[in-house]
Amino acid sequence: MIRTLALLAFAAMPISAPAQSADILLNCSSCHAVGPDRPVAGAAFPDLNGQPIRYLERQLEAFQVGDRRHRQMELTATALGDGTGAMARLYSGAPLPDLTRRMDGATPALVTDGDWDRGLPPCASCHSLSPDDDRARTAPRLHGQPEGYLAAQLEAYADGNRTSDPMGRMRAFAARLDAGEIAELSRYYAAWQISEADDD
Ligand code: HEC
Ligand code: HEC
Repeated sequence: MIRTLALLAFAAMPISAPAQSADILLNCSSCHAVGPDRPVAGAAFPDLNGQPIRYLERQLEAFQVGDRRHRQMELTATALGDGTGAMARLYSGAPLPDLTRRMDGATPALVTDGDWDRGLPPCASCHSLSPDDDRARTAPRLHGQPEGYLAAQLEAYADGNRTSDPMGRMRAFAARLDAGEIAELSRYYAAWQISEADDD
């Protein structure tokens, strides 16, 4: 199954990749494993499996036009050209990993309650673990993403370096978080990791 999906990832790439370096850039599955069993612990790259299709497509377009800055992904998205929809469909259709929380302690109040005095709705009112959830149609799953990645994205929104968010909402929310809150929220979401068979 996973091998088939990985092959699909490969087949979905344009054959006319101009140079060998583009082949590397376009080998998505070397960094974003396709399928639910990828190792989460220590993974450095965001997991794309089961993310909302429109979200994925918009991110690739954001790298193309500079609404998101990351040199290598900008080159990748540019090399991908109008293949963004096919890649978004592939990853969005791949099964979600089965994630369990691997950290003791209370869920941060910002996740469940928000802080309305500061104009912060609960993160959980938009970010959900279940792809069947209505919320999950537009907002990406944060659970199981690398801690450093999450923190860097929140900082990029707060600094205005990432402007892919519709109506600037995530920029506004992130700018209201302090450094300690960004660290706590990133740690919380990253602590969701692939369930071990013996947990059941
Ligand atoms: C060499 C590793 C590498 C390869 C190959 C690669 N990516 Fe990425 N990708 C990354 C990194 C690192 C990021 C995080 C960028 C950032 O910090 O903004 C990323 C981010 C993304 C995102 C945004 C994820 C999110 O949660 O918002 C999408 C979508 C994406 N990549 C799709 C692709 C596709 C499609 C391909 C193949 C055409 C690809 N990537 C190839 C490393 C890679
Ligand atoms: C009103 C809905 C809403 C709320 C509330 C919300 N978000 Fe978001 N968030 C979004 C949407 C939509 C996106 C995708 C924006 C884009 O395309 O760049 C997003 C993107 C993100 C990303 C980038 C994910 C990635 O894969 O790159 C992070 C990190 C994030 N949100 C964290 C949070 C945290 C932490 C909170 C709570 C403090 C929060 N969000 C509250 C809607 C929301």
